[in-house]
Amino acid sequence: MARRRRIYEGKAKVLYEGPEPGTVVQYFKDDATAFNNQKKGVITGKGMLNNRISEYLMQKLEGIGIPTHFVRRLNMREQLVREVEIIPIEVVVRNIAAGSISQRLGIEEGTPLPRSIVEFYFKNDELGDPMVSEEHITAFGWASPQDIDDMMAMALRINDFLVGLLLGVGIRLVDFKIEYGRWWDENDQMRIILADEITPDSCRLWDSQTNDKLDKDRFRRDMGGVEEAYQEVARRLGILPEGGPQDVKGPVSIN
Ligand code: TMP
Repeated sequence: MARRRRIYEGKAKVLYEGPEPGTVVQYFKDDATAFNNQKKGVITGKGMLNNRISEYLMQKLEGIGIPTHFVRRLNMREQLVREVEIIPIEVVVRNIAAGSISQRLGIEEGTPLPRSIVEFYFKNDELGDPMVSEEHITAFGWASPQDIDDMMAMALRINDFLVGLLLGVGIRLVDFKIEYGRWWDENDQMRIILADEITPDSCRLWDSQTNDKLDKDRFRRDMGGVEEAYQEVARRLGILPEGGPQDVKGPVSIN
C-alpha cells in the first residue's frame, strides 16, 4: 500500500490523510503524556481500547442527535473521521470536584458540585492550555457567541447522556474534556460537530461503588493498574476487542 500522508502527530494520536476527500484517518497510539508532556510513558493496549471506546461513545451520541466526526472504525487502532477545522478550545464539563478545580478552588476531591460546571481552556501546549472565559474566546475570534452557545448546549447534553450510560455500568462520570470542529456540509453550511476522542484519557471515571479510578489519573499519579483500568472500562461497556483481553498486548487479568 502506498504510504499515507501524515497530517499531524499529537501526544496520543496521529492523523493521516483519509481515503476519500474530506476524511481523515485517526490512529490511536499507546503513548501517554501528562502535565503538558512533562511525564511520558506507554500504556500497553491503550490505543486499541481508546479506538473502540471512542467509537462506541460517539456512535451512541450520534444516536441521540449529537453530530460527531466519527465515520467508521477501520481496524484495531484506526478510525475514519470527517476532516474538520478544530476549534482551539477544550471544553471541560465537571460533575464532581477533582483535579484542577480541586486544586484551584480548594474543594476536596470527590465533592459533588452544586450543578454541572462547564469550563473553557485555550488549546495551546506552549502555554499549558490556560483557562479562558467567553470574553477571551470572542474577543480573540476563536469562536463566536453563537458557536459558544452551541458548544455549551451540546456539552451539557453529552454530559447528561454519558452520566446515565456510564452509571448503568457502574461508573461515575466525574468530568471530561471534549473538542469540537467546524465542518461544512453538502450545502456549504458550517456546522459545529464533536471531534477528537472520548476515552479514559479525556475523562475521569470512578467505580460507582468503590470510587476506584478507571482513567488516566492512574498514570498521572503513578497508581499502577493503568492497563487494567482501561480494559475494565471497555469490558463494562461490553466492547473488549474481539478476541477478549488476550487481544490486548499486556496484562490479561481484568478483575
Ligand atoms: P483537569 O482537572 O486537569 O482540569 O482535567 C479535567 C478533565 O479534562 C479530566 O477529565 C482530564 C481532561 N483533560 C484532558 O483530556 N486533557 C488535558 O490536557 C487536561 C489538562 C485535562
